[in-house]
Amino acid sequence: MNTLLITGVTGFLGGAVLEKILNGNDAMNLLLLVRANDAAAGIERVKSNMRKFNLSEETLQRLTADQVLLGDLGEPEGFLDDPRLESVTHVLNCAAVASFGNNPLVWKVNVEGTLAFARRMSQVTGLQRFLHVGTAMSCTPEPDSLVPESAEFRENAEHLVTYTRSKSTIEQLMRTECPQLPLVIARPSIVVGHTSHGCQPSTSIFWVFSMGLMLQKFICSLEDRIDVIPVDYCADALLMLLKGQIANGEVVHISAGEENSVRFADIDRAMAKALEKAPVGDKYAQVSYETLVKMRRELKDIFGPCNERLMLKAMRLYGAFAELNVRFSNDKLLSMGMPKPPRFTDYIARCVQTTHGLSIPQQMEVDFK
Ligand SMILES: NC(=O)c1ccc[n+]([C@@H]2O[C@H](COP(=O)([O-])OP(=O)(O)OC[C@H]3O[C@@H](n4cnc5c(N)ncnc54)[C@H](OP(=O)(O)O)[C@@H]3O)[C@@H](O)[C@H]2O)c1
Repeated sequence: MNTLLITGVTGFLGGAVLEKILNGNDAMNLLLLVRANDAAAGIERVKSNMRKFNLSEETLQRLTADQVLLGDLGEPEGFLDDPRLESVTHVLNCAAVASFGNNPLVWKVNVEGTLAFARRMSQVTGLQRFLHVGTAMSCTPEPDSLVPESAEFRENAEHLVTYTRSKSTIEQLMRTECPQLPLVIARPSIVVGHTSHGCQPSTSIFWVFSMGLMLQKFICSLEDRIDVIPVDYCADALLMLLKGQIANGEVVHISAGEENSVRFADIDRAMAKALEKAPVGDKYAQVSYETLVKMRRELKDIFGPCNERLMLKAMRLYGAFAELNVRFSNDKLLSMGMPKPPRFTDYIARCVQTTHGLSIPQQMEVDFK
C-alpha cells in the first residue's frame, strides 16, 4: 500500500485534498506534517480544519495521532530524521507561508525549509512522486496574456511580493539541487472558495471582489478577466497529478484557462444576483491607486472598523494582480483527462452565503497572517 505524506493539511488546499481522501475509497497510509506540541494536539488541529469542510465526526475518526509527523518547515532538522519518512512513496507538499503580508518567515519556510525537506525526500529510495504546490503567479506573467505552462526561471524578474519570489526560487532550487527527486510542480492560479462549502473553509481572496464592488471602483476594468478556480477542483487535480502518468520535472497549471476565466463584469452580475441587489454596472469606475488613497477617510464608513493602512495595502497589492488581466493555460491538465473547471460565477452564490455577516477586514485576515 502506498504511503502519502501531505504537508499543509491544516490549511485551505491541503484540507481540501484531505477532504477528498477521507470521503474516497483509496486505501493508503497517511502521514501528515503538522505543527503542534504533540501528536494528539496535532491531529486535533487537523480535525478542526476538516470540520470547516463539513466532514462528519464518524469520518474524522479515520484520522489518528499516529498519522501525525510533528514538524515545522522553519526548523526542518526537527523532523527530517523521522524513520517513517523512509516508507513514503508519494509527497504532496502544500505547506507554505502563503501571505502577501511582510511575514518574516516567508523565505525561511518557503525556500530554506522546503529545500531541506526536498533534499531529504530525494534520498528516499521508494519515493515515486514529490508533487510540489507552487503558484501560477510566480512566473511574473505579461499583462493581458494567456500564460503557457513553462519551467523557465528568470532570476531578476520583478515580483510584486516576496511570497511569489519565494515560490519561484524554490522551484528552481529543487530542480538544480535535487536532481534525484521525482518532482512534479502543480501551479494553481487563484483559488477562491469551494463549490459546496463556499468560503467556509477559507475566505482567502473572496473579499477582494466584494471590496471592489462595495467601493464601486478599483484598479482593474470590469472587462478584465480573472483566472479563478474552486479549491475542490484544485484538490481533484492535485490527486490526479499525484497518481497520473506524467514526466518528472513537468510544470502543470491548475487553472480556469482562457475558456473558464471570468470577467469582473460577470462577477458583478453574479454577486448582485446572489445578494438580490442591482449590479454596480455603469456606476463602476476604474481608478488609480492614488484615487483610492484619497478615499482613505471614507473607508471606515464603507467597511466598518478597519485598519486603513492595511486596507490600502491590500488594494495596492491585489489591485496590481487583478489588473494583469492574465489567464493561465490549462492544456496539460485537460489533456490528462481532467474535466474543465466550473466558473467562479457558477458557485459564487455559495461564497456570498457563507461570508454573510463577516466584514471585509474579518475576511482579509487570512491573507495577511
Ligand atoms: N490559495 C491560493 O489561492 C493559492 C494559489 C496558488 C497557489 N497556492 C499555494 O498552495 C499552497 C497552500 O496554500 P493555502 O492557500 O492552502 O495556504 P494556507 O491556507 O495558509 O495553508 C498553509 C499551510 O501551510 C502550513 N505551514 C505554514 N508554515 C509552515 C511551517 N513553518 N511548517 C509547516 N507547515 C507550515 C500551515 O500550517 P499551520 O496551520 O501550522 O500554519 C497550513 O497548513 C501554498 O504553497 C500556496 O503557495 C495557493
